[in-house]
Parts: sequence; structure tokens; C-alpha cells
Amino acid sequence: MKVAVIGSGTMGAGIAQAFAQYDQYEVTLCDLDREIVQRALDRIKTKIQNAVSKGKLEAEAAARTISRIKAGETKDAGDADLIVEAILEDVGVKRELFVSLHNICGADTIFATNTSSLSITEISRGIGRPLIGMHFFNPAEKMKLVEVIGGLSTPPELITRVKEITRSIGKTPVEVTEGPGFVVNRMLVPLINEGIGILAEGIAGAEDIDTAMRLGANHPMGPLALGDLIGLDVCLKIMEVLHSETGDDKYRPHPLLKKMVRGGFLGQKTGKGFFDYPAH
Ligand code: NAI
Repeated sequence: MKVAVIGSGTMGAGIAQAFAQYDQYEVTLCDLDREIVQRALDRIKTKIQNAVSKGKLEAEAAARTISRIKAGETKDAGDADLIVEAILEDVGVKRELFVSLHNICGADTIFATNTSSLSITEISRGIGRPLIGMHFFNPAEKMKLVEVIGGLSTPPELITRVKEITRSIGKTPVEVTEGPGFVVNRMLVPLINEGIGILAEGIAGAEDIDTAMRLGANHPMGPLALGDLIGLDVCLKIMEVLHSETGDDKYRPHPLLKKMVRGGFLGQKTGKGFFDYPAH
């Protein structure tokens, strides 16, 4: 099966690797230009080679995974059986991409979006075919959950098919009817936002907030480190969607989260968020 992953950032690179670990998939990783994709491929290779050095992966399996991902541009996605879109979190930009893909892909090509918060129904309006949410979690090559999200015009057969595909790459699908934040982010991102509020009010420092949740609630990662990993810009978008869709002020993005994003302190991807990532 041919998979085109559009967007080679944090999520797209992980999703490409998640499929390429399995023999039955050939992956084309696409972005605005080939240089961006090349950098993503280099990151994927480094990650895979580190796994080999640590003895977590056989060298042969690693080489096969790497060989199953090729670099491309969106116009190269025409022969894909499945498109997984992981670009900017913006309805208009995503819809424009799907319209252009609809014109070059076969009638049976499945269109899936990895949006973390937007309405599948709204993105799909006018794109010419049904759309489904295939919401991976970061790091996508490792995390076992995929939320499979149906919008108003997603046919049940498509949901069944995408759940099968999800299982075929060793992941567990949960079926979700579209609603703001779906299931995980509706609970998780407000938690991160609350951690930011505790920091801003001076109730505890960043390290202590994270330690509290790791040791007190048995979370594998504290909320601030998790926000840095997800990307603080992505967290802000999710809070804004939860807030505007529900009209409920319990989802108000904290001003400190907004300030961090305005300053370009987006977390791991920019080398600085609530913690520093000097290797960036
Ligand atoms: P990112 O900013 O790391 O990567 C986005 C990539 O898309 C960039 O490489 C950019 O050049 C490319 N891009 C932008 N517009 C494009 C276009 N029109 N055509 C082709 N490529 C384009 O973003 P990230 O974090 O990977 O997020 C991508 C999507 O995944 C978003 O919808 C986000 O909400 C969702 N998501 C993010 C998660 C996270 O933990 N970061 C988790 C699950 C979903």
C-alpha cells in the first residue's frame, strides 16, 4: 500500500516512520520543498540509527525502514492509496491542500487528517470526497494510540477501513465522533494549561510542577515538558479551539502560554520552551 504523508514536521516524520516499519507500506514524505523533507529524513535516520546503537533495533530492519521512505513534494502524492495530512493546524490551509490532492489522486485514495483539534466536517467541506481523522500521538512512531475520528460525512466503511489500517501498523484505534479536542486533548491540553497557570502564579517552579505530576500522579512526563514536546503553538491552538467551540471559560488559554508562543518559545522544536533543549 502506498502512503503519502504530507508535512514532514514533528508529526509527519513520526507517522512516515510508523508506516515504514512494516513491509506492506511504501511511504512518500512530502512538504513544501524537498530540502525540508531531506532534513526530516536525516532526523528519522538519526533516530533509527540511535535505536540500533542501543540494541533496540536490528540493523537490517533499520535499513529496510529507511529504504521504505522516499522524499517528495505534494504533487508526487497522486499515486497514493492513503494520504495522511500533517501540515499546519489551519482549516483553510488544510482544505486547500485536500482540494489540490483530490484533483491528482485516484477516486479510491483515502484522505485522512492528523489534525489535533479542528473539525473534520469543516475541513472536508468542498474537498470532493469524504475525510477521516487519523490522530496520532507524539512520538508517532512509538505511541500506540490513534483516534479515528468521523465527521458528519465520514462513511462507516471508511471508519472500519482506517481502524484496520491502524491495527496493521501495530497501533490501537479508538473510534471517536467529532467533538472539540476529541478525547485525549480535551483532557490533556487543559492540564498543560493549568500547569502553566501554576508556574505563572509562582506557586511552584517548572521542575517542581513536573516532578509533582510524575511522582504524585504517576504521569511518565510532567505537563510542562509534555507541552514542550507537543509544541506550545499546537497547545495554544487546541486551547483556542476548545474555548471558542464550547464558549466555556474553563478552556481559556493562559496568557503565559500566549506570550511563550508570541516569543517563538515553542518547546523542543525551537530549542526553548519551559525547559531548554541545547542540542536543537
Ligand atoms: P510542524 O510545524 O512540526 O510541521 C508541519 C510541517 O508542515 C512543516 O514541515 C511545514 O513546512 C509543512 N507544511 C505547512 N504547510 C504545508 C503545505 N501547504 N503543504 C505541505 N507541507 C506544509 O507541525 P506538527 O507538530 O508536526 O503538526 C502537524 C499537524 O499534526 C497539525 O495539524 C497538528 O495539530 C497535528 N498534531 C500535532 C501533534 C504534536 O504533538 N505536535 C500531535 C498530534 C497531531
